[in-house]
Amino acid sequence: MKTTSSDPETPRNSTQFLRKLSSYFPSSSRLSVYLLAILVVLFVFFQIYSLQTPPTSPWAFMHQWEKMVGNSCLLSSQDNKQQELKSMASKLSESVTFLPLKDLRFANAAMKGHTWFMSSMYDTHEEGEVQYQQFPTESSKGRILCLKGRDTHDGSWNYYALAWPESLPENATVLRGITFISYNHYDYYNIWHGLSAMMPFVAWHIKSQCAGPRRWILYHWGELRTSVAPWVKTLLEATFGGPQNVDGIHCDGESDGCDSNPVCFEEAVVMRHNEGGMSRLKRMEVYDLMRCRARMYCEAGTREKGEQGIGMKMLMRDGARSFKNATAVIGIFEKECRKVAGCRLMMAYPHNLTFCEQVKLMSSTDIVISAHGAQLSNMILMDRNSSVMELFPKGWLELAGIGQYVHHWLASWSGMNHEGTWRDPVGDPCPYPEEDRRCMSVFKNGRIGHNETYFSDWARRVLNAVKMRKAQQVNTNPVSGLCGCQ
Ligand SMILES: *[C@@H]1O[C@H](CO)[C@@H](O)[C@H](O)[C@H]1NC(C)=O
Ligand SMILES: *[C@@H]1O[C@H](CO)[C@@H](O)[C@H](O)[C@H]1NC(C)=O
Ligand SMILES: *[C@@H]1O[C@H](CO)[C@@H](O)[C@H](O)[C@H]1NC(C)=O
Ligand SMILES: *[C@@H]1O[C@H](CO)[C@@H](O)[C@H](O)[C@H]1NC(C)=O
Ligand SMILES: *[C@@H]1O[C@H](CO)[C@@H](O)[C@H](O)[C@H]1NC(C)=O
Repeated sequence: MKTTSSDPETPRNSTQFLRKLSSYFPSSSRLSVYLLAILVVLFVFFQIYSLQTPPTSPWAFMHQWEKMVGNSCLLSSQDNKQQELKSMASKLSESVTFLPLKDLRFANAAMKGHTWFMSSMYDTHEEGEVQYQQFPTESSKGRILCLKGRDTHDGSWNYYALAWPESLPENATVLRGITFISYNHYDYYNIWHGLSAMMPFVAWHIKSQCAGPRRWILYHWGELRTSVAPWVKTLLEATFGGPQNVDGIHCDGESDGCDSNPVCFEEAVVMRHNEGGMSRLKRMEVYDLMRCRARMYCEAGTREKGEQGIGMKMLMRDGARSFKNATAVIGIFEKECRKVAGCRLMMAYPHNLTFCEQVKLMSSTDIVISAHGAQLSNMILMDRNSSVMELFPKGWLELAGIGQYVHHWLASWSGMNHEGTWRDPVGDPCPYPEEDRRCMSVFKNGRIGHNETYFSDWARRVLNAVKMRKAQQVNTNPVSGLCGCQ
């Protein structure tokens, strides 16, 4: 029997055994190189990953890691998602729908409810407050207002739309800041109507911690307008603390070709009901602020508390609705004024006074006497509770419609006392029967006579009332100092 094994696989001693083993397994130094390589790869992956998006939690890291080591299939589905989002956004842009600013379907109810201006929109309205639209808000679902609205002749050729800032209509320019957009059924060049269109923005200004606009865009029947009466413009300048841009839609060099493309507004406030819906108290608050700001702007000091004098001012006109005999009219009021201690009568032609001269004049006026006309809007600049005496030529009562009462309304809204009217029974002859509407063209610009008995009694009554009011009133100007705003 052999002592050595005939089996070739059986090692004969320990050295042989080890040599055999090493042919089956990598050496220890090779092993460590393998391990090191794996670690380096892991480390590099981690570095790339953490440079891109720092993980916020271990969870997030795991999530990202899965993406990182994910196969190429996952990565391309990411690309697909990006593509999909882009295409969705461009579809949203495409689907922004522009509607005509003036909706002819509501032509017969142009000023009611939604009005024919931006007729698909609802106003925000709380009881007694200003009615307005604001974009973007929750109710616009974050969408902003866009306009293609530069036509000055036909409002149905101007358009509006809502769009999300991420998917604006093609070639749109975004105008930064707050934009005031006004709808006025009448003429911005008429002081009364201009003031009426602007006052709700002042109400919004008060409501919104005194935020002011970067620009105004004015529409009449959906047609772009680019100017307002200078008196109104200066009042706005005083109220909002600087020159106001009212002259159309400008892109301030933001992009080429902006003038023919849509503009969208970072923030827009739209008014289409003037003072409608506001309580008398809210309206008075608005005129208080405008009065206060106008006096500040013009450095027209308010009168000393309890100052005894009574300021009686006659605002005169030339031509239409001027006095036939101004000397006679002045004489009558002068005589009554002289009978009251401290009363001073002054005449002024507002058409040749600057805005600030008018503000100063009115801030020391307790009684204003004037023919019906634009100059009477100055009444809002008197201290609250002052008196208005208004005169009309012949024919207005019968033919002028409700427009003749605008100064009654303005007096009530601004906290003044309208002390009634005098209507001249005598006027120029009309070639048609007197009740014929065509006579209005004759009476509209008629001149105004006088009735000494009537004027004297009227002046005496008003002077008495003012004297009593001034005696018991402590403060006629509730708004003072910073005018209620910083
Ligand atoms: C946008 O502007 C480009 C370049 O001016 C013009 O070619 C394109 O027609 C415009 N698109 C629209 C929808 O107006
Ligand atoms: C105007 O009234 C004054 C005073 O009443 C009178 O003296 C004068 O004659 C009148 N003028 C005209 C043109 O009637
Ligand atoms: C103001 O107007 C009146 C009437 O039009 C005129 O008589 C007067 O001279 C004018 N005053 C000034 C300072 O221009
Ligand atoms: C006007 O004066 C009267 C009497 O002093 C007072 O009762 C009233 O509240 C005042 N009106 C306004 C609008 O300030
Ligand atoms: C003038 O007014 C008085 C008082 O209101 C009136 O009685 C009189 O008839 C008026 N005179 C004229 C000429 O209208």
